[in-house]
Amino acid sequence: MRNLLTLFDLSPEEIQRIFAITEDLKTKFASGLREPLLPGRVMGLLFEKPSLRTRVSFQAGMVHLGGSSMFLGDDTGFGKRESIADFAQVLSQYVDVICVRAFKQQVVDELAHYASCSVINCLTDEAHPCQALADLYTLRELFGTFEGRTLVYVGDGNNVARSLAVGCNKVGMKLVMVSPPGYELDEEFLDRLKREVPGAEVTLTNDPAEGVRDATAVYTDVWASMGQESQQQERRKIFADYQVNAELMSHAPDDAVFMHCLPAHRGDEVTGEVLDSPRSVVIRQAGNRLHVQKGLLAWLLGAMT
Ligand code: CP
Ligand code: NVA
Repeated sequence: MRNLLTLFDLSPEEIQRIFAITEDLKTKFASGLREPLLPGRVMGLLFEKPSLRTRVSFQAGMVHLGGSSMFLGDDTGFGKRESIADFAQVLSQYVDVICVRAFKQQVVDELAHYASCSVINCLTDEAHPCQALADLYTLRELFGTFEGRTLVYVGDGNNVARSLAVGCNKVGMKLVMVSPPGYELDEEFLDRLKREVPGAEVTLTNDPAEGVRDATAVYTDVWASMGQESQQQERRKIFADYQVNAELMSHAPDDAVFMHCLPAHRGDEVTGEVLDSPRSVVIRQAGNRLHVQKGLLAWLLGAMT
């Protein structure tokens, strides 16, 4: 039984295998075929934070695969009525996979520790592994190969940035992180990355124009993540010079694409002009959340090894 708690859990070969399954399922889906690889399987979803993409793509994906899903709302009392240990041991007798979005990574880790079924991290303050998998899959679709390609992330060293850093290093894509001083990827994470991913490298810079120079893709995310709303005004000032706008994109190669995990705050981390431009692949990224998570589910639940 396997979990996806962070991308550290997957080997480079496993990521490529998930991408191969995804490609197959996506091609079949485009021709109208929904292969029922997981008949009778049940997914339970626990979300402490809002979600459109993650929640709906997981639920729809499970139905495409012949299974079903249950969104477990506040009435189950997750984190309130009983211990996580009791909750996990009980729930995992009913469902085959638990998809969880929580503030603390520790909550997801604890749930996985006590559950007797697979657990998938659907975003914590620390990581967003499903997002990074879909982003890398999107780049693979667009460019065919990761070798010699560079992802430039401009913004906060947050959950999305961390998962992209692990993912890029696992698939062999170069990563440049452009953040204001004090908002870079944290030392503890960088130490773990170097310890757990052989040869891992991240170029850190505070200079956006210099940072995007060799970009295959320029990626950004919100300046204040869910749970940091009270810091929004302060962060707006700190990140003002890190907006992805037409001027910044003019420093990137002409064929560089723009990426964002969405939801976007137009006028903050990205202008509407860039977000809606022909270089933007954000809608395709969001669409691939569905396909990659179907690949992940089929692989994780053993229907495709
Ligand atoms: N990108 C992403 O995870 O979106 P949601 O918060 O809508 O799930
Ligand atoms: N960093 C953002 C990602 C949202 C998908 C957040 O955690 O709110």
